[in-house]
Amino acid sequence: MADEEFRDAALAAIYDALDPDRGDLDAYVGAVGEFGARSVLDVGCGTGVFALLLAERGVEVVALDPAEASLAVARGKPGAGRVRWIHGDATALPRLRVDAATMTANVAQAIARPGDWHNTLRGVHAALRPGGRLIFETRDPAGRAWREWNRDASRSVTDVPGVGAVESWVQLLDVNGPLVTFLWSYVFVADGRTLTSRSTLRFRQRDEIEADLTAHGYVVEDVRDAPDRPGREFVFVARRP
Ligand SMILES: C[S@@+](CC[C@H](N)C(=O)[O-])C[C@H]1O[C@@H](n2cnc3c(N)ncnc32)[C@H](O)[C@@H]1O
Repeated sequence: MADEEFRDAALAAIYDALDPDRGDLDAYVGAVGEFGARSVLDVGCGTGVFALLLAERGVEVVALDPAEASLAVARGKPGAGRVRWIHGDATALPRLRVDAATMTANVAQAIARPGDWHNTLRGVHAALRPGGRLIFETRDPAGRAWREWNRDASRSVTDVPGVGAVESWVQLLDVNGPLVTFLWSYVFVADGRTLTSRSTLRFRQRDEIEADLTAHGYVVEDVRDAPDRPGREFVFVARRP
C-alpha cells in the first residue's frame, strides 16, 4: 500500500506545491526522445506530472499508481484526458506493448517489499514491446542520503495556493540494513492541523538490481548518472530483448 503522503487526499493535494522543481524529469524526457518512444507506461505516476509532460508532447501515456488520492489530483489537471490512468500496481496492467516504461522520483525504492518489486519487474516486462526499455532511478546506498533526513536540514514553510502556509520536515526513524524508515510531518498553519506520513524505502545495491533485471529477462543496457544529482543515483536503462 502507498504511504499516507500519496493516499491521503489533503497530502496528495499539496504534493506538487511542496516539490515544485521537477528538473529531475528532464533526463527522462530526454531518454524518451533518445529512444524514440511513442508510447510510455509511467509506473508510480503519483500526481501525474511526468505523464502529463509526455502527453503534452504527443506521447501516448498509460500511468499507473496504487494511491487513488494522487491519481485524483492527476485526473483533475489540464490535459489529463489524454492519459490513460490506472489504479493499482503492475499486477493491474492490461495487455500493453509500450516502447518504454519509467519510474521517476525513486519509485523503485518505494516498492520496498521483494514480492512487489518482482511483480513490478515482471509486469513491466510483459507490458514492453520487444526492444522496449525500462528506465528508472534509485539512490546509490553508498551516498547514505538518510543522513540528511532530519528536521534541521529539511524544515521548510511553503505557501500553498488555496491552502495557506504548510510547514514540513522529515525525521529519520530507523535504518535496518537496506530499509530506511522516516516520517514526514506537515503542519497546516491556518488551522493548526498536523498530518504525518511514514515511509520505508529500500536502498538496493547496483549489482543486486542488475541481477534482478537479468533474472526477469531484461538486458541491462546502461547505468547512468542523474544529471541533476551527480554521483548520488543509479539510472538504469534495461531493454526487453
Ligand atoms: C515519490 S512518489 C513519485 C511520484 C511520481 N513518479 C513523480 O515523479 O512525482 C512515489 C510513488 O510511488 C507509488 N508507489 C508505491 N508503491 C508502488 C507500487 N507497488 N507500484 C507502483 N507505484 C507505487 C506511490 O503511490 C507514489 O505515488
